[in-house]
Amino acid sequence: MKKCGLMLAAVCMLWGCSEMGTAPAAKAPAKPKDGELAYPADYRTWPKFLSEVQRPDAKQIRELVVNQAGARTSQGQMFPSGTVMVMELYKAKMNGEVPETGADGKLIKGDLAKVFVMAKGDGWGQDVPDNLKNGNWVFSAFGPDGKALAEDFTKCRACHAPLAAKDFVHRYDEYFDKRIAR
Ligand code: HEC
Repeated sequence: MKKCGLMLAAVCMLWGCSEMGTAPAAKAPAKPKDGELAYPADYRTWPKFLSEVQRPDAKQIRELVVNQAGARTSQGQMFPSGTVMVMELYKAKMNGEVPETGADGKLIKGDLAKVFVMAKGDGWGQDVPDNLKNGNWVFSAFGPDGKALAEDFTKCRACHAPLAAKDFVHRYDEYFDKRIAR
């Protein structure tokens, strides 16, 4: 109730003032834009998409999961509305400038740096220039604490957009090939 005197408070009660209203619930809008997706707090219980993706170039190891709606998709299909994909970006343990590797030759996982999310819904993701459209996908990023990060989402879009034939999902083929093998 910022500078809201007694009179104003009375008026507010009658007519409603935004300052007087209860705090908005922390939920995503019906048609979220980039950066507005809700943090999918339970994603660690979701089906695996790909594990331990090695990215020595980015000095990272990545863990990918997909929610149940997406996991029901078959190879050759597009993911349905309601699909959410999460990619955890872990820092690789470094030895100076060089990422360390374990006995298995793989990078060693350090701290979780960021959580990248892409989610799809009917009519989402249309408020961007045509060359940045990624079907109905919308992008968001979070810190390891689940707080939204203000990333440059045009970069996400620019790098995923060329993959229209694979529903804008970089590791589409690898996922289905490995899922069949599992
Ligand atoms: C320079 C290219 C590039 C940019 C920029 C980029 N991505 Fe990706 N993204 C990839 C690649 C490549 C993968 C596959 C995993 C890997 O190799 O690291 C991927 C995978 C993903 C996945 C898992 C699903 C999939 O496509 O396999 C999500 C979710 C994702 N990115 C979200 C984001 C978000 C959110 C941003 C922006 C904050 C972003 N990406 C920016 C290249 C990019």
